[in-house]
Amino acid sequence: MALRNILIHPDPRLKKVTAPVSSVNDDLRRLADDMLETMYDAPGIGLAAPQIAVMSRMLVMDCAKEEAATPEPMVLINPEIVWSSDERNVYEEGCLSIPEQYAEVERPTEVEVKWTDLNGASKRERFDGLWATCVQHEIDHLDGKLFIDYLKPLKRQMITRKMQKLKREMARS
Ligand code: NI
Repeated sequence: MALRNILIHPDPRLKKVTAPVSSVNDDLRRLADDMLETMYDAPGIGLAAPQIAVMSRMLVMDCAKEEAATPEPMVLINPEIVWSSDERNVYEEGCLSIPEQYAEVERPTEVEVKWTDLNGASKRERFDGLWATCVQHEIDHLDGKLFIDYLKPLKRQMITRKMQKLKREMARS
């Protein structure tokens, strides 16, 4: 396993629609391991492939929150939202590609998602709570969408400028 470098916004690769995964093989399983390791190391609760510059429809997440909780790593390949609740709720979201910036985003409270797992099997599950927010946030990444795209332009620009400054500082050090 290896830690991968996480792209920081703004980056054109974070704005692209990614391509479906065509086959589940050992390379993909290694990529999933790297993504999980990178996510846990960050630490974060979700990571989408384009965030590590892999332009494929794949994400990992683990929203088991409590410190003592048993890890619940999930790998979703070609995930697709097949149902969303009319009911919506608001969560304060953050993103490993937009470090230390948080904002409230409203999304459907529950979603049903279908995807392919690492054995190539079809899965379908309903998510609620933090899991629902997380899976929607990560699927957005696969379509080149960031949580700041839901914010008012002024707030989005403010965050983007902070990230540009952060990237300049990182490039210098
Ligand atoms: Ni994110």
